Amino acid sequence: MILILDFGSQYTQLIARRVREANVYCEIHPFDLAPDKIRALRPRGIILSGGPASLYDRDAPDIRDEVLHLGCPVLGICYGLYVIAQHAGARSVGSRAREYGPATLVIDDHDALFDGIAEREMRVWMSHGDRVEALPDSLRAIAHSDNSPFAAFRSHDGRLRGIQFHPEVVHTPRGAIVLGNFVRRICGEPGDWSMANFVEAKVAELRARIGGARVLMGLSGGVDSSVAAALIHRAIGSHLVCVFVDTGLLRAGERARMESVFARQLGIDLKVVDASGLFLSRLAGVVDPEQKRRIIGHTFIEVFEREAASMGEARFLGQGTLYPDVIESVPFKGPSVVIKSHHNVGGLPERMKLELVEPLRELFKDEAREVGRKLGLPPEIVDREPFPGPGFAVRIVGEVTCERVELLRRADAIVMEEVAAARLGSSLWQAFAVLLPIKTVGVMGDGRSYESVIAIRAVESQDGMTADWARLAPEFLARVSSRITNEVHGVNRVVYDITSKPPATIEWE
Ligand code: XMP
Repeated sequence: MILILDFGSQYTQLIARRVREANVYCEIHPFDLAPDKIRALRPRGIILSGGPASLYDRDAPDIRDEVLHLGCPVLGICYGLYVIAQHAGARSVGSRAREYGPATLVIDDHDALFDGIAEREMRVWMSHGDRVEALPDSLRAIAHSDNSPFAAFRSHDGRLRGIQFHPEVVHTPRGAIVLGNFVRRICGEPGDWSMANFVEAKVAELRARIGGARVLMGLSGGVDSSVAAALIHRAIGSHLVCVFVDTGLLRAGERARMESVFARQLGIDLKVVDASGLFLSRLAGVVDPEQKRRIIGHTFIEVFEREAASMGEARFLGQGTLYPDVIESVPFKGPSVVIKSHHNVGGLPERMKLELVEPLRELFKDEAREVGRKLGLPPEIVDREPFPGPGFAVRIVGEVTCERVELLRRADAIVMEEVAAARLGSSLWQAFAVLLPIKTVGVMGDGRSYESVIAIRAVESQDGMTADWARLAPEFLARVSSRITNEVHGVNRVVYDITSKPPATIEWE
């Protein structure tokens, strides 16, 4: 494996993505991972990420010197370059003027890092403030740019390398080659990490760990839990029991889809629980979004626990946790380093005294999708857009009632149908309808109407953290609007949300 030590760059996960695209397994850990823990991971190479800090900050994050001398090659990117340079005794200076944006890298000395790049010059993306002014004897420059005389260097023994640019971003078109060269040619990784191998190895591991015990799992219909269930099922067959809770707050056709794919196609033991009445009664009169979320969370756990109890003893709880959920992020705030770990377990396993089985913990979302395809899950499951756990409750602004859920479901189904017909699914992160808590005046035939408003939300995004509203064609929006006002009784106006995130969030609540 390749170890990526994270100094807090917004691009660290991208480094991991690029390494995995070179079919090499890698993990991200905080920069201060203890040397004995690093040794235990037995990395074939180490990448030091960039980071927001300057070498001249008080408490600038650093590594122990021995990390650079464990015997495996080390590549420092941007801030990581300064860390290596500093340990080697280079002279660096802080600069007020950040170099940010495209630059031309001139390769001065051939190095394995640049294998397969025929040109002497390449376009790269820079984002740094500090700069190396003079190299010690142990390091030698291999490339420069207009602003950086030492934009890339290598140590004489070939173990340490630093690059000032960011090879992981798309603005460095040859960057994937550079990272691929580091992990495969320089570190000697064979490049045999693939989703087919992953499925095979994971199935064996799950069988060994679970043996003949039972695994219980809640299916949400989302990609993560679906793929995890399919994988666990491949390993242990009928020892997996899945529960699908119909909260009554789901998109049209969801329950039928779950039954068709999981019970009929995959042959998974699936228990469908219709708890819609309970959820709606608990939500009666509630308008505060946070309160809605809390009520739904608690009710879900209650229903799940009750079902689990009626299904006999289980030892494990399956979950679709993905790698981005478990990476410890490294935010630098104030003098002390706060490391926050993310958990995705919702208190359920502790209460039910179950051990967690999380077969996708090492995977990014697109890798999980690939595993799903390998396991035979249909495109309508592996390629689906994210859907919030609280479902329509956070897309109905104001009170959630049976009638309002029905109204939204019809309008939302039209959005889904039109998105599919226009083949917009792959370019959009999400597209859905929102029911607003107001009525407006309209005219129907010769009469006046006074009815509800539907907002359409369609966004483009890489990860849901930031998003931009989709510039959908006016003809498309016209079709959606006219279908909704014609086909959904109780709606006389449709509006389009033209706000990005930030300042708005994707969901309305
Ligand atoms: P926001 O609204 O925060 O949403 O911009 C970002 C992404 O997260 C999804 N989302 C949720 N997913 N449980 C979930 O599993 C939730 O409570 C939840 N709230 C928002 C949202 O659909 C978007 O993709």
